[in-house]
Amino acid sequence: MANEEKVKVGLVGAGWIGQHHGTNVVNNPNAELAAVCDADTAKAKAFAEKLGVKARIYGKLEDLLKQDDIRTLVIASPNAAHAEQALAAAQAGRNFYVEKPLAISLEDCRKVAASAHAAGVKSAMGYHRRFNPLVLHARSLMAEGKLGDLVLAESDYFHFVPGNLDIWNWLGNEKIAGSLIHAGTGHNVDLLRFFAGEVAEVSCYKDVRMPRKILVRTEDIALINLRFESGALGRVGLFLGPIMPFTFTLRLFGTKGSLDNNRLWLDTIPDFAETGRENDFIQLPRSWVPDNVQGGISETWKACMDCFIDDVRLGRPTANDAASGFHTAAVCFAALQAAATGRSVKPERL
Ligand SMILES: NC(=O)c1ccc[n+]([C@@H]2O[C@H](COP(=O)([O-])OP(=O)(O)OC[C@H]3O[C@@H](n4cnc5c(N)ncnc54)[C@H](O)[C@@H]3O)[C@@H](O)[C@H]2O)c1
Repeated sequence: MANEEKVKVGLVGAGWIGQHHGTNVVNNPNAELAAVCDADTAKAKAFAEKLGVKARIYGKLEDLLKQDDIRTLVIASPNAAHAEQALAAAQAGRNFYVEKPLAISLEDCRKVAASAHAAGVKSAMGYHRRFNPLVLHARSLMAEGKLGDLVLAESDYFHFVPGNLDIWNWLGNEKIAGSLIHAGTGHNVDLLRFFAGEVAEVSCYKDVRMPRKILVRTEDIALINLRFESGALGRVGLFLGPIMPFTFTLRLFGTKGSLDNNRLWLDTIPDFAETGRENDFIQLPRSWVPDNVQGGISETWKACMDCFIDDVRLGRPTANDAASGFHTAAVCFAALQAAATGRSVKPERL
């Protein structure tokens, strides 16, 4: 595709996040929101009108796929629809950005990743936290060797979701949402893979502990231990419902430095471990911490979408693709199996 051509995008699912993505497409000078598809066509139409764009409106993906000029889709439908829609997109030769989770079963994740590869289309996962400024800074520190070899990586997803919300009608139902380890902590697993590479072995405890009006059938708390192929260790925590605001953490410990959210210690800081020198760390901006701060989070959604548009436009390889989404899913499903069997599990590979 010539650089000056705009990428024509069809949005599938004009709900809460789909509207963020649609807005980010419209705000990208190299993209055009050419179609909006939602099971609720009135909602799709109202969204296009709100944006002031002349997008074609569809109620079914199959009708959108008949539009030969629209070669790129953004899939932001509910979890259970992702696999079928991403498969249909790949089989029709369309590039696709798909919201997480890639699918609600590992078998379907494999099918989607394999189809995207076979069709030679671009795919991208909605794991936008890879574009968080703290994450990007930590990646550059690692690339420069400032942290040394990674020894331990940790990330928690502690999300207060009030127990009386109707969202629990589907969120805790494995048939609709899949596992919460995959749907929620998939973000954290994906981030740790981004830093530490592929996972060799997983162990996990999980449970349902917080009171709420609708029974959660999957899990609301889980602790996942990881051993990476590099030899580094990892830990991911999931807690849906703790009595505290949304908390998303990142801690990286290397042989030469440690990052604890926005605090950074390096072995080049003199006497950093001496009494009285507790505050001798490098303070990075608090706003970089990947918490659910709307400003920060919507910027990373935009960066993730802009990167995908450029990957499509320039024919660049996509790091955050469906194959990567499969490997994140494989770790999450290994955690579920580990929790069920009480044994450590090797994640499946493509
Ligand atoms: N990456 C993130 O940080 C993040 C954050 C929130 C949500 N999500 C993901 O985004 C997806 C959507 O979540 P949401 O909160 O926007 O949900 P939502 O319910 O607000 O929106 C879903 C939309 O999809 C439409 N829809 C339902 N079935 C459809 C179909 N078969 N084809 C087309 N449209 C269909 C619905 O009418 C609705 O408008 C979920 O998979 C969720 O996990 C990701």
